Amino acid sequence: IEVQPLNLDAPLTNHSNIPSEFVWPDNEKPCLQPPELKIPPIDMKAFLSNDPQAVAKVCAEVSEACKKHGFFLVVNHGVDKKLLEKAHKLIDTFFCMDLPEKQKIQRKLGEHCGFANSFIGRFASKLPWKETLSFHYSNDKSTRTVEDYFLTSMGEDFKDFGSFFQEYCEVMSNLSLEIMELLGMSLGVSRECFRDFFEDNESVMRLNYYPPCQKPELALGTGPHCDPTSLTVLHQDQVEGLQVFVDGKWCSVAPKEDAFVVNIGDTFMALSNGTFKSCLHRAVVNNQIVRKSLAFFLCPKQDKVVTPPKELITNENPKKYPDFTWATLLEFTQLHYRLLEMVTREKQ
Ligand code: SIN
Ligand code: FE2
Repeated sequence: IEVQPLNLDAPLTNHSNIPSEFVWPDNEKPCLQPPELKIPPIDMKAFLSNDPQAVAKVCAEVSEACKKHGFFLVVNHGVDKKLLEKAHKLIDTFFCMDLPEKQKIQRKLGEHCGFANSFIGRFASKLPWKETLSFHYSNDKSTRTVEDYFLTSMGEDFKDFGSFFQEYCEVMSNLSLEIMELLGMSLGVSRECFRDFFEDNESVMRLNYYPPCQKPELALGTGPHCDPTSLTVLHQDQVEGLQVFVDGKWCSVAPKEDAFVVNIGDTFMALSNGTFKSCLHRAVVNNQIVRKSLAFFLCPKQDKVVTPPKELITNENPKKYPDFTWATLLEFTQLHYRLLEMVTREKQ
């Protein structure tokens, strides 16, 4: 392909030829029409019903999915449809602003929060075809982290935006805690075990915006990765793009308006002593239409020691990972990305 000069501050536009920094090597290029992953959606209402048979069925389904690939869908989750519609609308509001406006909240190298275009926060050696907006959430009810962040960095105009996403994160945190009860029971430990561990979570929310790309067969919206966090609760719009790696091949996760996509991250894999798998996934782009997704990353309070409950350490399944704190893992993850970035720059 013809390589165009790369302007690091330019928004992603629909070039007829995309810059080589976005072109993945042949063995990693996306397949745009992979088989669809067929798995039963998990019924949260059935889990919360107190009907022992219904609960056992849901736990068995979750256990099978998490032992195999670490990924499932939840339906009947009780989240208001209007909240999701508004969230998707606000993604448009933010990303359709001019670049200098978005850059008021620019994420700096080594930081986790703020606006990023392709050039920061990459997961791999190639650039992702997307823009993101990330922010911290604390489940400490005496703070309003999200609202304060937007008010301070974007001004009064973003007060409502901040208070909306404060509420959205609260809803996601509550849903994640219910899912933690479900994961606990599916692993055969108490219902409260992981819920209590994450009750004071300090999580991260990310809005993903994938503009159309003229050469979707060469680029990726998000490169292949496992989330280092504990649990991801994602809502995607009606545009296909998310793919998970199952049985040695990439499969698409068809959009389902009334469902959340849930995946296990590295930290929960460690908490389950390796029984539940952190899910390998990526997002492809298309040449027609913008794709949007909202990801809530559940994380433990930074200084909490991540160690599996003793019931999950047995003679058949001895302890797999050393104990660590989320703060340390975060530091290592960041270091890893920075090294990757340096190596890649040297190569280019
Ligand atoms: C991600 O895994 O970071 C993004 C997934 C998506 O946009 O569907
Ligand atoms: Fe991810």
